[in-house]
Amino acid sequence: MKWSSSPVVLGILILTSCSSSLSVPEEESALVKGASITDASFQALSGKLQQAMERGGPAYAVEFCSLNALSILDSLSSAHGATIRRTSDRIRNPQDLPYDEEARILRTMLAEWKQVNNETAIRPRIELHGDSIAYYRPIFINTPACLKCHGIPGSTLDSAAQAEITARYEQDQATGYAINDLRGVWSVRWKR
Ligand code: HEC
Repeated sequence: MKWSSSPVVLGILILTSCSSSLSVPEEESALVKGASITDASFQALSGKLQQAMERGGPAYAVEFCSLNALSILDSLSSAHGATIRRTSDRIRNPQDLPYDEEARILRTMLAEWKQVNNETAIRPRIELHGDSIAYYRPIFINTPACLKCHGIPGSTLDSAAQAEITARYEQDQATGYAINDLRGVWSVRWKR
């Protein structure tokens, strides 16, 4: 009997080829890990943001975010052994420009969002890229506080914040949002 036609060998070949995709338990634990990393990151960022708002109002808080948001995410990345980013189809900071695979995820989530208009229907997702696990989770404009800096100019957008945003981000695209809008996505990567 030729070795390649042996059912046992074929079985082993099929099993080992599974390592190029994630098993269901692996995917489930990656979803849990991604959720906990992004929960912690949201807490950290929004805690500091709130402190800055209380200390100096929205314009001061814009300055604070522009100076600290990325370095806060860098420290969180080291602490969690992962790369933690936020990105969007309408970015404020040019460093948050989506990579190709993130742009694809954003397009998919935005299309789903337009169809169902329901936060809970847009699920986080996991992908395997080589030996890295990528976790994507939608970010919504989930409180009126977001609108002070991402809302509609002349209406919900705070005017002092707007002036500071214009001064710091020449190419800003991240205004004009309403409550419940899909603002962007968390993009987290770690070694499998
Ligand atoms: C005080 C103003 C302010 C408030 C309030 C605020 N943001 Fe932002 N947001 C910013 C600034 C400034 C940046 C760019 C930070 C940087 O330069 O790294 C930003 C960046 C972001 C980004 C990263 C993508 C990008 O466009 O660069 C997301 C996502 C985001 N904000 C979502 C939110 C959400 C959701 C809320 C409410 C929970 C919120 N923001 C509240 C000012 C604000």
